[in-house]
Amino acid sequence: MAPDIRPCDATLGAVVSEIALGELTEPQWQVVEAAFHEFAVLIFPNQHLTDAQQIEFGAHFGRIEQLVADRNIVPISNRREDGSLLADEAHGMQVMMGNEGWHTDSSYMPLAAKASVLSAHVVPESGGETEWADMRAAFDALDASTQQQLQGLAAYHSLYYSQGQIGHVVKPGAGYGFHTQHTPRRPLVKRHPVTNCPSLYVGRHAYGVGSKDGSEMLDEIASAQLLDDLVSFACQPPRIIQHTWTPGDIVVWDNRCVLHRARPYDHREARVMKHTRIAGEPDSETCLPKTA
Ligand SMILES: [Fe+2]
Repeated sequence: MAPDIRPCDATLGAVVSEIALGELTEPQWQVVEAAFHEFAVLIFPNQHLTDAQQIEFGAHFGRIEQLVADRNIVPISNRREDGSLLADEAHGMQVMMGNEGWHTDSSYMPLAAKASVLSAHVVPESGGETEWADMRAAFDALDASTQQQLQGLAAYHSLYYSQGQIGHVVKPGAGYGFHTQHTPRRPLVKRHPVTNCPSLYVGRHAYGVGSKDGSEMLDEIASAQLLDDLVSFACQPPRIIQHTWTPGDIVVWDNRCVLHRARPYDHREARVMKHTRIAGEPDSETCLPKTA
C-alpha cells in the first residue's frame, strides 16, 4: 500500500498515514525519504513502535548519534524509572525546559545532527506540544540585501550559552553537549546537502556573530539582537507547525533546515517521549575550522 502524505497548512510538514513504520518496505522507505526532503517534518500518527523498531527506523536516515554511551534511544521524560517526577531544578529538567526555546539539535557539537526522531509514550492532559519552523522559507522571505549580508556571517553554538540564558549554569562534563572542546562556529546560512536549498541556521544555542573567516565580530548586543530578530522573523506563520502528541505518534525532522521547540506543560503530570538522533554527514555538518 502506498503511504498517504498530507501536507500541513504551512510551508513545511506533512502527516503520513497508511504506513506501518515497524514493517517499512524499501519502496515505502524511498517515498518517506523523498517526503522528508520535501516537507522537512513528517508526522506518523498511531505507530506504537518498540524501542528496537524506532532505532531501526532512525537508522534508515544515517548513523545514530549516541547521546548516552551505548544507547541509540534515550528518554526525554520528567518521570524517573521509579515513577517519581523530576523537580524543576533537576539538571535534566533544566535541559528540557531550555528546549522550549527554538533550536536545532547538536548545533553545539563539532558535528551537528542530520535528523531527529521523537515518539510519544505518556503525554500530559494539555501542553507539551512540539513546534517546528521552516528555515528554508524564512531565508526565502528575507530581502536580497539581508540575504547577502547573512551569507558572510557565522555564529558560535554552545549549550553552556543557551542553558546560561535560562539561568542554568553547567560545569563541563555534565553530560551530552557539555564538552570541553572548542566551541563550534557555523555559518548563519546553510545550504542543504541534498536539496541545495539555502536556509537560516540560527536558534537558541547561537551567539557571537562575526564574519565567517573570524576576522571581524559584531559587538555582543548587536549580535544578540540580530539573532533574536532572525528567530522572531523566521518562526511565524506560514512557516510554523505544531503537533499535539498522542501516545504512539512518531515524528522525524530535518535539523539541517528546521528549528523546533517544546511547549510548556504542567510538570506535576508525566510526559514521556523517546528520542533517537541521527548524526550529520561530515561533509555537510562539520563546524567551521577553528580560527586563531
Ligand atoms: Fe531538540
